[in-house]
Amino acid sequence: MQNFDYQTPTRLIFGKGVVEKLPEIMGNYGKKILLTYGGGSIKKIGLYDKVKELLADFEITELSGIQPNPKYDPSVLDGVKLCKENDIDVILAVGGGSVLDCSKAIAAGAKYDGDVWDLISYKVKARSALPIVDIITLAATGSEYDCGGVISRTETNDKIGYMDSHLYPAVSFLDPTYTFTVSKKQTAAGCADAMNHIMEQYFCEDSSILNDGFMEAGLKSLMVNAVKCLENPEDYTARAEMMLTCTYGCNGIYALGNSYTGWPCHGMEHALSAYYDITHGEGLAIITPRWMKHILSEKTVDRFVKYGVNVFGIDGTLDKFEIAEKAINATYQFFESINIPMHLKDVGIDESRIDEMAHHVAVNEGLENAWVPLTEKDIADIFRASL
Ligand code: NZQ
Ligand code: ZN
Repeated sequence: MQNFDYQTPTRLIFGKGVVEKLPEIMGNYGKKILLTYGGGSIKKIGLYDKVKELLADFEITELSGIQPNPKYDPSVLDGVKLCKENDIDVILAVGGGSVLDCSKAIAAGAKYDGDVWDLISYKVKARSALPIVDIITLAATGSEYDCGGVISRTETNDKIGYMDSHLYPAVSFLDPTYTFTVSKKQTAAGCADAMNHIMEQYFCEDSSILNDGFMEAGLKSLMVNAVKCLENPEDYTARAEMMLTCTYGCNGIYALGNSYTGWPCHGMEHALSAYYDITHGEGLAIITPRWMKHILSEKTVDRFVKYGVNVFGIDGTLDKFEIAEKAINATYQFFESINIPMHLKDVGIDESRIDEMAHHVAVNEGLENAWVPLTEKDIADIFRASL
């Protein structure tokens, strides 16, 4: 087990109706709130009206229209401007991971006098950030429990995972009933995203019985509950377990003491959604089985055996490479069974920019340091195998 230094300061308030505590919580941070949200789903589900009613005594400035794969310009820049002009005390992000990620970048930018891209691109380290409270409405990213935000800059095809310990939400409200309306497409993509978060931590050199068990349970929870949510979108128990399993995804708790992995599938997917603005979880589902096939070797096979036997119940007495291949096929088939498009061409990506994207990933994502190092050629090969 490797050394670690771990802290997640976020307070989680979970369950049906917990949003009633919002005025009490927001009161801890000040009167002036920047309310951030996306394209209108929170209005359709009645959450916008509920928030406005609960916070009638506060001064609210709004930033709406934050898109999936949130953009630096306009959303982050607009939000920073609003915070500075209105002397905002606290940000309330209401929506999916994109709204929350954008709000994290705004929170850092609001306390910085220079070019906000300096922070996101790690040129300058943030000294502080506005506090963030969120009501998460989509189970997927785990942004509600981590200090990261993923921001896209269209003109340079950059999609950067920006992490800073100042960006943990102070408080996250998790009410599974607000996820009842998440579409089948986004429910499946959220499941694939969260499964990949676990796999990015599971496939490594040095793990433990404890962490493997936690992660294998997480993967099983996601697969079982995603199917239930797709069959019955208002299955509270399934939505609740799905939500909590996703929440643990990216803050490190699944793999405390495990060795570094490099998160290769995320590194590659960021290019797909930066260049083509596709849904993150779908890009991951397409890449993951191809990446697995690409890295299967004598060095990695035992991890695939453990994964295949413990997650998919594959017969452990078979030849180890046969188990590994069955496990990779089972991964593909699960994603296919929940109707995720499983080829890049199904999401509008053809051969034309593969080499350019592979170069971008090789230069920017550091995958030469991944558990199984990936060169520019490896990355291009994985993209081509995904076509
Ligand atoms: O924009 P609105 O109208 O709100 O609609 C959204 C959006 O169209 C809709 N939606 C959200 N909640 C809903 C709902 N529709 C109906 N009912 C609800 N309750 O769903 C669509 C997708 O929303 P989005 O926020 O983009 O999805 P998700 O939560 O999957 O976030 C994806 C983004 O998070 C980043 C991804 O790269 C991507 O940009 N990630 C962030 C991470 C983090 N901070 O730790 C880790 C992940 O790896 C991920 O990379
Ligand atoms: Zn992800």
